[in-house]
Amino acid sequence: MPDQDAFLADLQRRAERGGGEERLRRQREAGKLTARERIDLLFDPGTFEEIDKLVTHRCRDFGMDAQLVPGDGVVGGRGRVDGRLVYAFAQDFTVFGGSLSETNAAKIVKLMDLAVTVGAPIIGLNDSGGARIQEGVLSLGGYADIFLRNTLASGVVPQVSAVMGPCAGGAVYSPAITDFTIMVKGTSHMFVTGPDVVRTVTHEDVSKEALGGAMTHNEVSGVAHFAVDDDAACIRLIRELLALLPSNNVDDPPRVTATDPVDRVDEALDTLIPAAPSQAYDMLDVIRAVVDDGYFLEVHQHFARNLLVGLARLGGWPVGIVANQPAHLAGTLDIDASIKGARFVRFCDAFNVPLVTFEDVPGFLPGTMQEFGGIIRHGAKLLYAYAEATVPKLTVITRKAYGGAYCVMSSKHLRTDVNFAWPTAEIAVMGAEGAVNLLYRREFETAADVEAARAARVAEYREKFANPYVAARHGFVDEVIRPRDTRPRLVAALHGLDGKRQRNPPRKHGNIPL
Ligand code: HXC
Repeated sequence: MPDQDAFLADLQRRAERGGGEERLRRQREAGKLTARERIDLLFDPGTFEEIDKLVTHRCRDFGMDAQLVPGDGVVGGRGRVDGRLVYAFAQDFTVFGGSLSETNAAKIVKLMDLAVTVGAPIIGLNDSGGARIQEGVLSLGGYADIFLRNTLASGVVPQVSAVMGPCAGGAVYSPAITDFTIMVKGTSHMFVTGPDVVRTVTHEDVSKEALGGAMTHNEVSGVAHFAVDDDAACIRLIRELLALLPSNNVDDPPRVTATDPVDRVDEALDTLIPAAPSQAYDMLDVIRAVVDDGYFLEVHQHFARNLLVGLARLGGWPVGIVANQPAHLAGTLDIDASIKGARFVRFCDAFNVPLVTFEDVPGFLPGTMQEFGGIIRHGAKLLYAYAEATVPKLTVITRKAYGGAYCVMSSKHLRTDVNFAWPTAEIAVMGAEGAVNLLYRREFETAADVEAARAARVAEYREKFANPYVAARHGFVDEVIRPRDTRPRLVAALHGLDGKRQRNPPRKHGNIPL
């Protein structure tokens, strides 16, 4: 009978050593932290409780009997982040390349089930060569078991995926189902099929970085929501994100006491809108002037930049911000922006995060690229998301609210609770130039001075429609406010909606146009 303490201590030591000193050294040389270092950074000091530390794989083939590492390539468990309960797992690349085995999948599944049972967020730190080749279908089954949990936990507890190394093949679908994906620049890659397969099948020559690096997925595909410089920044961002989110779909997001005065006015906003209707300005200036301490955690910063989405606080309460960005593509809504906005709106709605919309939108982006790409279907996603959202909804129209985009961007008609407009708001079916060309084409054909006739009609149209007062007379805008007062008015409106409860008709689920 061996000394029990010594026996256990040896197992623990082997679990903590992962794939051994040489592989740990290679991990660090690659600029990556180890799985345990990542876990240590994520949780408040001394709070991590590991689950299944002594689990080993059950594979008997390919000489695997001789390679048993306690923990089997994934470190998982629970701990505290800023005092709040969180579950997390970190794949250990030093053990069989972090590949997913039957047993380490079962570990992940166990902690996901626990997290959902107690209503705690799930954080996945991914760094893996994918399905463990030696285990075949048992590994594939493990993936599917995780995907099922990701799906069932969606909208129940927040799920955040950090991609901190390779993530290839079907493995990418776990991060894809979760709420936020963070990629580390230079060391992380995501693709369904890697460069070699791409070369064989399509004869395209593409590097790993160009195919599936952090910026590719942040800028081009929109698969990832954040790009960070290194592992430590990645973990810091996860902690920052969690501070703004509730633990589950029953809790409210965590409120703090605002140090930024709730009655702070900002006179610079009064002169922010340029005199020329087509001149751009930066909507980020509006957001930062209004939210607490100018703090805005932008989500999808590099993707579909014509729409801004992100988290902030108003009077200490977390809110989700959605805003057209006139400084990019004139703030039009295109396919990517619609998808980006829709997913963010649905996330906020699922987790009781009130929505604040800043609107300056000339319409949907015209053109064959957009129509052929299905802007009808994709634009409908944003409309659907806003319409079904039952969290407190507030809108500020700063300038243009034209056409279908007026309806979509959290209009009164979609059950938005409070709709403000600045005096510079223009709410109309379309812009003045387009409208007069349609309405007065015949008049212009026979006019002695076409330009003068057009200018007169444009002026008439702008006088009638390029203002917020028609909408205000109908109650579609609750109030026309001075731009400087936007912060105090939004804080008051938000706090006036505390306790809002609204239900949609009972159904299995809606059929959002995917
Ligand atoms: C078992 C694996 C492994 C895997 C890597 N290793 N991937 N072991 N199963 N899938 C092992 C290697 O044998 C090696 O072991 C160690 O991990 C490190 O791998 P290296 O190749 O030396 O590292 P590196 O050069 O950094 O390359 C990393 C890599 C590469 C790009 C991830 O290992 C790779 O291409 N692996 C295979 C990726 C893949 O095709 N996976 C299947 C995808 S399909 P030693 O003992 O030398 O340290 C898939 C399906 C999921 O995952 C389906 C879900 C539905």
